[in-house]
Amino acid sequence: MELGGIQDFLDKKTILVTGATGFLAKILVEKILRVQPNVNKLYLLVRATDAVSALQRFNTETVAKDLFKVLKEKYDTNLQKFLAEKVIPVAGDITCENLGVKDSSLREEMWRDVDVVVNAAASTNFHERYILCTLTVFL
Ligand SMILES: NC(=O)c1ccc[n+]([C@@H]2O[C@H](COP(=O)([O-])OP(=O)(O)OC[C@H]3O[C@@H](n4cnc5c(N)ncnc54)[C@H](OP(=O)(O)O)[C@@H]3O)[C@@H](O)[C@H]2O)c1
Repeated sequence: MELGGIQDFLDKKTILVTGATGFLAKILVEKILRVQPNVNKLYLLVRATDAVSALQRFNTETVAKDLFKVLKEKYDTNLQKFLAEKVIPVAGDITCENLGVKDSSLREEMWRDVDVVVNAAASTNFHERYILCTLTVFL
């Protein structure tokens, strides 16, 4: 797909990205916000105890990185306002029922509004027990 085609596709879309603190998802999130600021909303699933912790992880592990330098230069003091309009960090876990999203009204809103799901959540440390990985795949 041409870049123009992808930009047009993302226009006004609501996207759920899992693994949002990970290497791949960070790059994806930054690129979407940079090339298509008219994206409607990005729900970012982050392993955290609650929404405040999810937001904190997003800010420290993603926004604070050099990767966001171009967006920081573009939006300057308005970056947090832009991010608050577009990004909703959500506390969750893909191995749990309903992705571990405990807030039922947020869950309903997500289930209703999300157009695209990008699953970048994964265990990449190779320390998991094989039996647990196998169970996750089959459950
Ligand atoms: N990196 C690459 O170059 C590359 C290339 C091709 C394909 N891939 C694939 O893309 C996927 C992501 O790779 P990555 O490099 O971004 O990995 P990564 O940096 O290790 O990120 C993995 C992300 O998944 C999250 N996560 C793990 N278990 C989760 C769970 N149960 N619920 C919710 N979130 C969970 C982690 O959260 P925590 O921060 O809480 O641990 C982290 O944010 C993998 O499947 C990988 O094989 C990667």
